[in-house]
Amino acid sequence: MCGIVGYIGKRNSKEILLDGLKELEYRGYDSAGIAVLQNGEFSNFKAVGKLINLEEKTKDFITKGFAIGIGHTRWATHGKPTELNAHPHLGESSYVVHNGIIENYAVLKKELLADGVKFLSQTDTEVIVHQFEKNLKSSKSAFDAFSKTLKEIDGAYAILLATKSQPDTIFFAKHGSPMLVGINDEGEKFFASSDTPLIGQAKEVNYFEDGDFGYVNPSEIVIFDKGSNKRKANFKKLSQNRLSAQKDGFRFFMEKEIYEQSDVIADTLMGRLSDSEVIFDELDKSLFDGINEIKLCACGTSYHSALSASYLFERYSKIRTSVEIASEFRYRDPIMSKDTLFVVISQSGETADTLETLKMAKEANLKTLVICNVDNSSMVRLADSCILTRAGIEKGVASTKAFATQVTIFWMLSLYVAKLRNSMKKEEITKHILLLREIPSSVKVSDEMHEKLTRLSKRYLHGHGFFFIGRDIFYPLALEGALKLKEISYLHAEGYPSGEMKHGPIALADPELFTIALLPEHMLYEKSRSNVEELSARDSTICAISSLEFDKADDFIEIKKSSHYMLEFFEMMVVLQLLALEISVRLGNDVDMPRNLAKSVTVE
Ligand code: M6R
Repeated sequence: MCGIVGYIGKRNSKEILLDGLKELEYRGYDSAGIAVLQNGEFSNFKAVGKLINLEEKTKDFITKGFAIGIGHTRWATHGKPTELNAHPHLGESSYVVHNGIIENYAVLKKELLADGVKFLSQTDTEVIVHQFEKNLKSSKSAFDAFSKTLKEIDGAYAILLATKSQPDTIFFAKHGSPMLVGINDEGEKFFASSDTPLIGQAKEVNYFEDGDFGYVNPSEIVIFDKGSNKRKANFKKLSQNRLSAQKDGFRFFMEKEIYEQSDVIADTLMGRLSDSEVIFDELDKSLFDGINEIKLCACGTSYHSALSASYLFERYSKIRTSVEIASEFRYRDPIMSKDTLFVVISQSGETADTLETLKMAKEANLKTLVICNVDNSSMVRLADSCILTRAGIEKGVASTKAFATQVTIFWMLSLYVAKLRNSMKKEEITKHILLLREIPSSVKVSDEMHEKLTRLSKRYLHGHGFFFIGRDIFYPLALEGALKLKEISYLHAEGYPSGEMKHGPIALADPELFTIALLPEHMLYEKSRSNVEELSARDSTICAISSLEFDKADDFIEIKKSSHYMLEFFEMMVVLQLLALEISVRLGNDVDMPRNLAKSVTVE
């Protein structure tokens, strides 16, 4: 998804902007650009594809002394990924970068074209800079023109604009897309759409609120809120831990993140378990007062963790639970009753569809909770309550450790609610606490397992499709396994409930149909086993994952024996992640940045 950086200061602006964009690469993009204003003149560079192309184009460009600069990585929405459509976009003497969507751009563009303005790109963004320059002609100052422009555009945005008419200033606006400004002791100012580019540069950061706009120059940071009232910046110390954002010797971020799961789950559990209960200090116990239903809403992998949660909440907390895909929920006039706790789940906390459902729930006066990995993200700031998953920065576009920590939180939360509602005996909760403590060891990757999956992966590079099948909570895990494979191998894969195969999909069975069968010993083993036998009898190629040997399988991946189905769940999760990774590696794909995908989907 698009990323923004900005810089005001005396160091090499080009390098600071390019380094910042590199930190945003993991979000996914298809073109990039920078514009630097120095000594009254703009230098602008754009390139399609990876940042290395932009680096090549800027190799002879040197900045010395004071300059201001803006940069952008673009993930195409309006118009193809071309150089002309890449940001920054130029007016006559100003440049703009923008994340989000300008909904009324077509109307504004028509008016500007009628005024004789020439457009170079097919983007919605370009109207911002032309509208600003139109307003500049009749305004007292560049800031007045900028404020007027904001009133004229509709949609979601984070914007940075630089103009020759005020060459030491960057104008900013945030409405629905993330943006922050950072400062350091040297008087430099930095902008970015997430805090990673500012690590090592800025000491403190201010996260802008929706509706904030203003300007920054070497001596001031001027912020107005959505009511146009001047407000003070709220600077917070920025963590400088860059180490966790690097590959640590692994081939891919995704691989590193799979291996990290044991440690991050230990962090997720830390301080939240006593011998006999789950403790969420961040939750007010009254959150569940008067609540008769939990509604979970999310997208993608987070949706799969929500589906897993529904099994746990109904089984342990004995509370009615429904699960919604955010992009569907927001347009279907849903019934929102006050006795429902509305829970959104998101790694990034910025996914546009999920964020929108949270706003809907807030408007309907429902109690809201977010399960999120990114502190200070839009969802965290908006929801009444928040549980952070503590997975650390996840860079691989294919989510792994975020899912693992989300499911861990949900298992804990189901016990927490069970205690509040007296739906489980104290001894049972105590037993589960011991099991929770075992998750970090059940997700540890053994060399033996990884080698086995690397070898096995060569047999699964073709075929006409994969079915990942499971029952109960292993059905959402099957969905997640199929999504992982699709995302990074580009092979067709579906997740299906094992018992449902005979109602249609079994017609596809032949040796070229690969079935990845989840056969947990402690959850409906016999039932799942007969479902797999039905497929085996029809000659589907079967890869079974279980702790119990299964002779009807073509390939068998043996997991450790454990005492509970949730521990089997976590171990199988790792197997599915590694299998997808190794298939993708053999196919020569970009594991961390798969085609057409973005890490954080901040447009609907
Ligand atoms: O940041 P979120 O959890 O809200 O993101 C939701 C999905 O976009 C995300 O899970 C996506 O499906 C991942 N690429 C899955 O690997």
